[in-house]
Amino acid sequence: MRILFLTHSFNSLTQRLYAALSARGHEVSIEFDINDAVAEQAVELFRPALIVAPYLRRAIPHSIWSKHVCLVVHPGIVGDRGPSALDWAIQKGEREWGVTVLQAEAEMDAGPVWASASFPMRRGRKASLYRNEVTEAAARALLEAVAKFEAKATPTPLASASGRGRLRPLMRQADRAIDWQRDSSETVLRKIDAADGFPGVADQLFGEPCHLFDAWPESKVSRGGTPGDIIARRETALLRATADGAVWLGHVKRRDAVKLPATVAFAEQAARLPELPLAGWWSADHATWQDIRYEESDGVGFLHFEFYNGAMGTAQCDRLRGAFEWARGRPTRVLVLMGGADFWSNGIHLNLIESADSPADASWANINAIDDLAEAILRCDDKLTVAALRGNAGAGGCFLARAADRVWVRDGVMLNPHYKNMGNLYGSEFWTYLLPPRVGVEGAAAIMRHRLPMTTRESVALGFYDACLAGDQAAFLVDVARRAAELAAAPDFAGRLRDKQGRRTADEAAKPLAAWRAEELARMRRNFFGFDPSYHVARWHFVRKSPASWTPRHLARHRDLGWKIPA
Ligand code: COA
Repeated sequence: MRILFLTHSFNSLTQRLYAALSARGHEVSIEFDINDAVAEQAVELFRPALIVAPYLRRAIPHSIWSKHVCLVVHPGIVGDRGPSALDWAIQKGEREWGVTVLQAEAEMDAGPVWASASFPMRRGRKASLYRNEVTEAAARALLEAVAKFEAKATPTPLASASGRGRLRPLMRQADRAIDWQRDSSETVLRKIDAADGFPGVADQLFGEPCHLFDAWPESKVSRGGTPGDIIARRETALLRATADGAVWLGHVKRRDAVKLPATVAFAEQAARLPELPLAGWWSADHATWQDIRYEESDGVGFLHFEFYNGAMGTAQCDRLRGAFEWARGRPTRVLVLMGGADFWSNGIHLNLIESADSPADASWANINAIDDLAEAILRCDDKLTVAALRGNAGAGGCFLARAADRVWVRDGVMLNPHYKNMGNLYGSEFWTYLLPPRVGVEGAAAIMRHRLPMTTRESVALGFYDACLAGDQAAFLVDVARRAAELAAAPDFAGRLRDKQGRRTADEAAKPLAAWRAEELARMRRNFFGFDPSYHVARWHFVRKSPASWTPRHLARHRDLGWKIPA
């Protein structure tokens, strides 16, 4: 079938549904929801059998839903209605939640139900639930709905569909407000989680208005001073006292600024606070803020790096490289780079770059820092390294992972291994060295040209990554630990390590890593400092989340020059 996606943006959930329907042979084209006339034109050009709205922020125009079946993906259980579905579910402590696929009608979220899927709720941020449980459930429910539509089934009117959901209003900042004098740490965490990544909780820090994000528990400070006081800092986070303890605040957004690490957004004030350092890289034995942590078992080291949104600034890359070098010194045979739960890495930190005095200089420092990290991984000759991707990866993050000897990915993860969407960046992280031996020169060029997301299965089929592991988060972790232990215990381990050392030595003799890096960076220098401002413009829009004013051609097939209305 020809299926048109009408969506606010091509976010990870939309990418996942796009991949799922394309894999089943449907022809999917995408139009961003810019205005009614543009959406009508897309329908006219593409003549879809079905329209799907995976992520819309406003109603589908009457002119479209009255003539075509439009399936809306709503991140709520059957009967739930309103624009803050997940926010309320988290704040109200729902135990089970779900996704409903309903048909668009005049009243928002009140059309007949085509399919639904549910999942157990866990403690977590809204964006994390959305990227994981909601995305999985949406894929299941949408595939079921599309199959029913193909089979000419009829949907169930909402009134007859048994659901306990109800209409809830837009959640306002008054509903989110934290009462620092009364709210427990648990309540504060839940309120910030329900607003994370957007819109955050409106509050004040150091007397200045801002929005709070990225809250972490702290279980060691039982009573940390007067509730509401900011009592300490650690790396990029601030520790704030609650009524019964304290919580860490990792990111904030000040008025007219972009979202930033808390100690960067309030640099002067944070500098006056006492630093509460971690004892080292080992995983702490209690709940606390720890972005980089290490654990070990069965001759395998596991290095986790939980960087907010997978963005890796210069200091984070340097610290991670320090942790990596430290972990190399441990008596293990295999070192697994675990990334974070939601993202493995999304490359250089565009928000930090945007807020720097000289974004070009900051970009240069950041790409060098991430290249230093990639180089440290590539030069690690006394262990086998594995990148285990539990969460999504984008741009430089995808190639940084490839610096490891093996890359194992969780089924369902969305990969965006290309730089072009960020103002035609050339990219670095040694992709020119790493890709051709795996996918060929033409294959590498195709990956870079192809601006579309890649599924894990596609990445393995191409030879870009090595293995697609279990889709379930817990099963993935078990799978990674088992495979890594097997690798460490393999009878031919010494031989494998020798092969790796031999390959690296031969590669270095043929062309030193420094030369690959210098060539890539010469192109990046042009992107950062050259006459063409495309990268700076693209970054400006990305960090400010400027609404799209057109749909990129590589997504809107119906706008291809050669596109003809199918007979
Ligand atoms: N730097 C800073 N923030 C980043 C980031 C980066 N490199 N990559 C993603 N983010 C942020 C987004 O701004 C968004 O912020 P929010 O919490 O305020 O909503 C959040 O991470 C999630 O990103 P989003 O785009 O909503 O996630 P997605 O899963 O739908 O899309 C990508 C993933 C990778 C396609 C998309 O985030 C992207 O294109 N990122 C930029 C990658 C890049 O060009 N890096 C620089 C070159 S190495």
